[in-house]
Amino acid sequence: MQQIKKKIQGEQQLLEQALARPLQQKDIDKLRVDLLGKKGIVTELMVQLKTLSVEEKKEVGPLLNQFKQFIEEKLETARISLVSTLATARAQKKQAFDVTAYAPKSLEGHLHPYTQFVEEVEDIFLSMGYEILDGPELETDEHNFTALNIPKDHPARDMYDTFWTDKPNILMRTHTSPVQVSAMKNKPLPLAGIAPGRVYRHEAVDASHDYMFMQCEGVFIDKNVSMAHLFATAQTFLKTLFKKDELDIRIRPGFFPFVEPGVEIDMRCPFCEGGCSVCKRSTWIEVFPGGMIHPNVLRFCGIDPEVYSGFAFGFGLTRLAMLKYNINDIRLLCNGRVKFLEQF
Ligand code: PHE
Repeated sequence: MQQIKKKIQGEQQLLEQALARPLQQKDIDKLRVDLLGKKGIVTELMVQLKTLSVEEKKEVGPLLNQFKQFIEEKLETARISLVSTLATARAQKKQAFDVTAYAPKSLEGHLHPYTQFVEEVEDIFLSMGYEILDGPELETDEHNFTALNIPKDHPARDMYDTFWTDKPNILMRTHTSPVQVSAMKNKPLPLAGIAPGRVYRHEAVDASHDYMFMQCEGVFIDKNVSMAHLFATAQTFLKTLFKKDELDIRIRPGFFPFVEPGVEIDMRCPFCEGGCSVCKRSTWIEVFPGGMIHPNVLRFCGIDPEVYSGFAFGFGLTRLAMLKYNINDIRLLCNGRVKFLEQF
């Protein structure tokens, strides 16, 4: 009996010592298991109690009960004090929180670089008095080829690797030039318009070719329009786009059945003085095909070539966007990769 009494006293002291130290929830849980658990000290003492005489039981039984109560009270007090310590710590942390110290980067959406670029191009032409024209991406053979002086079996059709549909004479437009045709047929003169949009060609896809890319058609018709107007328009546009006060252009002959004469307009490389990787060390970049609209095309659209003349151009919007933003792979523009898009 004395042994049990001693044990109770000893354990009581040990518990008080343990509770004097700072405790975490897991420490309190461990104490509870060690003392009150199935294999705990109290259970063990209960077993020993059974071996005592009735007299002894009367004395030790209440002691053991008190001990059990003592443990429960102490552990509950420890739990409550832990909860309040944690709450105080949390409140202090909140008070000391510096709202200016951490500014999470907000995820902002923005227009696709293509859209941004098209809007920039449109703004430049709008400022020169052009209107924005639109046309379907699914076109007729007549608008895409025949009206543009490329009759059936004309070898120039080979220049355009065409996606034909299973409807006769319906194709995915291979250039934006068909928009000129519908504008010339339907709009009053004088006419000044651009038509940016998607075009489709049956190309093997690589870093500089895609089966879909963007072009921008331009058409200008009035009395006494000459090549000089075309060159001035090209130069003004390129200077504004590349933000250059001076930007030389160079003109070479180029063949397109719907213009006569036809030209390729190159611009002086806006990125270097003496040659760089963009201009392949030549200081010139080919950017702007165009020419005087062929009398056959004017006639086809009901315009008298003896009275009116005009120029047309059709530059690669995709190519210009790649040049301006220094993008080296055409596929990046349409694959929706967020890491790429975030840069714009
Ligand atoms: N449509 C031509 C092409 O895709 C470009 C062009 C347009 C050339 C207008 C001259 C005049 O190749």
